[in-house]
Amino acid sequence: MKSRMLFVLVSLSWLLLIFFLLNVSSVQRLPEETNTVQVDNRYAKLNDRLNEANRQIELLMEQNKHLAQNLKTLTDLKVNPQELSVERPEAVKVKDALALNAFPGTPFETSLRRVRQNVDEIWHYLRTKMDKKSMGFVNDLRYNMFYELDVLSDRDNRWRNQELKNLSDFVQNRIHRLQNPSDCENAKKLVCDLNKYCGFGCQIHHLAHCFVAALALNRTLICDTQDWRSSSGEQNVWNKLFQPISQTCVNPNGHNRTDWGDDKRLHSYQVMYYPIIDYITPLPEFLPLVIPQQIADPLIRQSGEPFIWFIGNVLKYMLRPSDQLSQFMDTFKRDNQFSHPIVGIHVRRTDKIGTEAKFHTIDEYMFYVEDFYNKLDLKSVRQSANKKAQRLVYLATDEPNVWLKEIKPYQERGYVFKGDIKLSQSADPSQRQEFESLHDVVVDLLLLSQCDYIVCTFSSQICRMAFELMQTRHSSTQDMSQAFYSLDDIYYFGGQVFHGKKAIVSHSAQSKREISFNAGDILGIERNEHNGYNTGDHNRTKRKGLYPRFKVTEFVESKPFAAFH
Ligand SMILES: *[C@@H]1O[C@H](CO)[C@@H](O)[C@H](O)[C@H]1NC(C)=O
Ligand SMILES: *[C@@H]1O[C@H](CO)[C@@H](O)[C@H](O)[C@H]1NC(C)=O
Ligand SMILES: *[C@@H]1O[C@H](CO)[C@@H](O)[C@H](O)[C@H]1NC(C)=O
Ligand SMILES: *[C@@H]1O[C@H](CO)[C@@H](O)[C@H](O)[C@H]1NC(C)=O
Repeated sequence: MKSRMLFVLVSLSWLLLIFFLLNVSSVQRLPEETNTVQVDNRYAKLNDRLNEANRQIELLMEQNKHLAQNLKTLTDLKVNPQELSVERPEAVKVKDALALNAFPGTPFETSLRRVRQNVDEIWHYLRTKMDKKSMGFVNDLRYNMFYELDVLSDRDNRWRNQELKNLSDFVQNRIHRLQNPSDCENAKKLVCDLNKYCGFGCQIHHLAHCFVAALALNRTLICDTQDWRSSSGEQNVWNKLFQPISQTCVNPNGHNRTDWGDDKRLHSYQVMYYPIIDYITPLPEFLPLVIPQQIADPLIRQSGEPFIWFIGNVLKYMLRPSDQLSQFMDTFKRDNQFSHPIVGIHVRRTDKIGTEAKFHTIDEYMFYVEDFYNKLDLKSVRQSANKKAQRLVYLATDEPNVWLKEIKPYQERGYVFKGDIKLSQSADPSQRQEFESLHDVVVDLLLLSQCDYIVCTFSSQICRMAFELMQTRHSSTQDMSQAFYSLDDIYYFGGQVFHGKKAIVSHSAQSKREISFNAGDILGIERNEHNGYNTGDHNRTKRKGLYPRFKVTEFVESKPFAAFH
């Protein structure tokens, strides 16, 4: 805010200056027939004015110097102080400065998001304390509050979308530049092995982790996608699904090479081999959940989940669909009449159940789908639109019985399920290596990410990837950081160093199960209990327990990323 005020001040100074100069020049253009006395008189006046103008200019120059100095110390407005100097007045566009100032700033945006979140926190808190009937009252109130919040935020949505889209374009362009160097022979490279021995989602996240390093170190990412998953007998699987990650540079050779390590000359090697996240030493300072410093300010302003937005943009680049897949998606969406609004559910049953994940009934998923549509219905009532949205659900599952049996009661109540039972049949683990199965997983992933809300289990990589990709869609009316419900884990990036929350107010424990903290303290987060509390430990005292979610905010760390300079 301070920097904006300065910006406006500088602009106003320029307006003043221009005003003076215009005034002076209008006086200079005297009609020729005026007599000498008048002319003398006018010249005397003109002289006075010029002196005054000079004095003002000097004053302004002095102020400008001062302001430019102040600006230099402010990082959140990326204006080169030189551009504000007296020699280059054209750099300051008054209109832009005023327009910029008309938009809400970071505190406004974070407060607005927090109110939305806290409406849900109250709801979760009361859900554990009150009976169903009383909750009807609470829910009515809640939906109405969401409606009012929509009205409040709608005013600036275009600006929000624009700023997020700008940011996304910037990140996409920089990745593209990094991946397509003009001189591959001499480009600095980061080599990453895609064939990490794990499932599709895990491999994609591994590649994303390499991309983060490539961006931080400004090295072109070299990854042999040619024989990825070639054991299935299918050739060139990557290019059948996605665009190549580079058009000009795929050769991992160079003058010299090294592994990631603590070698002092590490960064002078042309080729660097980068390990999987689980075995990396020493820990790079840019490991997830760290975001690039260069985009931190606008990103924190515009997204409730800055890291997830960032990694989503990395995935957006990596997973640009091939022409073949793109065509398939278009046809699939048309044939299935995939339209908005739509809620995505990812019901994972056949793998990992009993090991990594618990079984969840369809009712658990549909509870949040229903809540989404109730909220929407109230909105149309308030808008006197009276046309209720059709209750569309995109169903992605690896269990054909979900299609055949479990969704029946919901279909009878008017829910319409989109998707393809065939996709769930090909997800049978015995066929997991097959190309079709992979293809179908990718289709499910991309379509889930295009839904307006998703209900899934964050223990699943597909669910987390869908949520990551979802953040990069800026056509919808608001930031998508709250458009999900996870039936199990909170969000995490496998191998992340630290996920923390920062206390905004202090808290003293109300019971043995709670922990106390002061404003500004950093707390870990292990679980969202969905009753208004998180479980986590205090980073300093190491005590573990419950703490109220509304008293903390996301702790975001940022470090410079060389590709974004
Ligand atoms: C987005 O970028 C465009 C072009 O670079 C610029 O004109 C516009 O002001 C930017 N908008 C925002 C909100 O940052
Ligand atoms: C690696 O090769 C580059 C280019 O030839 C050179 O500048 C650099 O010093 C070399 N690094 C080491 C550690 O030998
Ligand atoms: C949390 O604690 C660990 C060690 O106890 C420390 O290294 C780390 O810097 C702390 N994190 C923050 C954000 O304070
Ligand atoms: C990063 O690499 C690009 C070329 O790929 C280059 O133009 C840019 O100057 C580099 N940035 C830094 C900070 O080294």
